[in-house]
Amino acid sequence: MTTTTEVAPVLEARSLSAGYRRVPCVREVSLDVRPGEIVVVLGPNGAGKTTTLLTLSGALPSLGGEVHLRGEPTDAALHHRVRGGLGIIPEERSVISRLSVRDNLRIGPGPVERALDLFPELRPLLRRRAGLLSGGEQQMLSTARALAAEPSVLLADELSLGLAPKIVTRLMQALRSAADRGAGVLLVEQHARQALAIADRAYILRRGSVVWSGSADEARANLQEIEGAYLGHEAAA
Ligand SMILES: Nc1ncnc2c1ncn2[C@@H]1O[C@H](COP(=O)(O)OP(=O)(O)O)[C@@H](O)[C@H]1O
Ligand SMILES: [Mg+2]
Repeated sequence: MTTTTEVAPVLEARSLSAGYRRVPCVREVSLDVRPGEIVVVLGPNGAGKTTTLLTLSGALPSLGGEVHLRGEPTDAALHHRVRGGLGIIPEERSVISRLSVRDNLRIGPGPVERALDLFPELRPLLRRRAGLLSGGEQQMLSTARALAAEPSVLLADELSLGLAPKIVTRLMQALRSAADRGAGVLLVEQHARQALAIADRAYILRRGSVVWSGSADEARANLQEIEGAYLGHEAAA
């Protein structure tokens, strides 16, 4: 694991507020991601994880505060940020069902061959329609497509949702490798354990605010307490 504290962040939220129809559900969130590290954002359903990620990507306008990308404040639209080296694996799997695996990769932001080198599992599936893939294969396709562009910042939302542990491990390894090659990765997850296994740092979001942050080591060492205090259902709080 690298010591990254002296390196400038590739992605930063400074007192970021975000929400829908001008009503914030995320309030004054500050976080940063440095090159080479995986930062995981944990929190119960409805905590504001997806809203935060969408606002960092430029898909949702911010309602206050700032987003900094590679040291510069930005309010650019999503496609500009993507062109500038931002990669996204959205919550809803982004594959196009009626297109083949190969065509899904062709319309992605990076070379098809690089995507296949990252996920050789997709090679025998190239002609298959993406809609006929299993959930795990679809998520590998989304991940391969995003990573093929070698993004300097990668945002991934609930990568593991509904997938078998073996596939989750595979996807997490791919993110770890991307970070080891220099990308800054922000991973949103509801399930803490597998994400913390590959992460360097963690933030916990609850009701739109950061309620805990620290190293992944610290989070792993105190996982039971953290789960009890912060990761239960919002309604039970
Ligand atoms: N499109 C939307 N319009 C209005 N409210 C939304 C929308 N999407 C999410 N919300 C609300 O914003 C809050 C945060 O949701 P979200 O960011 O999706 O949480 P998480 O990803 O942590 O589960 C929730 O109260 C949710 O109901
Ligand atoms: Mg979400």
